[in-house]
Amino acid sequence: MQDIDLDRRELLGFLLRSPLLWAAAAALPDAARARPELAVPEAVSDALDVFQIERAARARLDLPTIHFIVSGADDGKTMQANRDAFDDWAIRVRRLIDVSRIDLSREVLGEKLAVPVILAPVGNQQSIHPDGELASARAAKQAGQVLIGSTLSNFIVSEIAREAGPLWFQLYASADRKLTEKLIGGAEEAGCRVLVLTVDSNTRGNREGERWWARAAGGPAEGTRAALRLGNFEGYPGPPRVGDAALDWKSMDWIRSRTRMKLVLKGIVTREDTELALAHGVDGIVVSNHGGRQEESLRATLGCLPEVVEASAGRVPVLIDGGFRRGTDIFKALALGASAVCIGRPYLWGLGAFGEEGVARVLVILREELKRIMQFAGTTSLAAINASYLERRS
Ligand SMILES: Cc1cc2nc3c(=O)[nH]c(=O)nc-3n(C[C@H](O)[C@H](O)[C@H](O)COP(=O)(O)O)c2cc1C
Repeated sequence: MQDIDLDRRELLGFLLRSPLLWAAAAALPDAARARPELAVPEAVSDALDVFQIERAARARLDLPTIHFIVSGADDGKTMQANRDAFDDWAIRVRRLIDVSRIDLSREVLGEKLAVPVILAPVGNQQSIHPDGELASARAAKQAGQVLIGSTLSNFIVSEIAREAGPLWFQLYASADRKLTEKLIGGAEEAGCRVLVLTVDSNTRGNREGERWWARAAGGPAEGTRAALRLGNFEGYPGPPRVGDAALDWKSMDWIRSRTRMKLVLKGIVTREDTELALAHGVDGIVVSNHGGRQEESLRATLGCLPEVVEASAGRVPVLIDGGFRRGTDIFKALALGASAVCIGRPYLWGLGAFGEEGVARVLVILREELKRIMQFAGTTSLAAINASYLERRS
């Protein structure tokens, strides 16, 4: 066995030294040569972009956990559409503008963000790293970013709040109103000022990869997550059941009446629902399709953004998530009127690969990439980024 390994290593060494390999690499199309596709960074500081951090996480995590993170609904077309949509737009840069000072900060719903990037709610983060949500909270605080804690976090919202900077709370409504009230109360007591109600989860997405690999590992459909505590449900006498198929605008009004927190709806993707949301007095909107994890065959969130921005007419901040992996992706959403973007999988890759430091690295990478394109485009502040910096590719 050892001999075979040695032979393999020798062969690899030989190939890497071989001029034939470099000749073959030179023949690759430009796009393939431009990115170090094969690199898997060993140390967090080596990671050049979010995709490399993803590879580092894939090398460390087990298959059920990888599929917990990567799976999209059905054939993953909504998830793919989210990514593809960034290519629908090209950036129009301006020249001869002093960009020696760039301001990336913005206030959203009373919270000051160092960069317009928010860590989206993600449940069960301890299945990815033992420090789970606490690591994400520490990294977000250090970077000056908001973290949205999930209803399904392993740590209790108050435990996360002790480590976090500004913390918002994401609510999955329950048909059990007493449970919904407990969750809201827990978030208020923890000092959250914004409640993010997820409205795209009245049933569960068909994530076959996630189910398949959890079962293949010999466990239940939720994989190793089934053994983890769900902190926010502790002490509740009833079953911890969330996801209410009957959730409608009336129940949304009821939720709003039960809290002093600002209310943001996560999962709005149409003009019509934006108008209804405003009529019902919401304070903000997240254009989201749950990273393509719920419904198949939806439009990309970037494609939905313009109609939501138009319908909201500047009355409430419009956030967006789904597929943001590069500073240029963020730039495009800002140019189309988003106040900030949320990221999910990128920081999970950071968490899985390097724990808190990995999450921190992802935030640094996105900050530096956004700053770079702002400098190239000649935009010195976020307010300067508008639709004139984009052109739709035909
Ligand atoms: C593993 C995983 C768990 C998630 N858990 C939640 C959750 O508990 N509540 C929620 O509202 N959204 C949840 N989401 C969706 C994210 O908040 C966000 O909408 C999505 O990840 C954004 O897309 P991106 O991963 O391409 O950045 C989850 C996403 C992932 C990948």
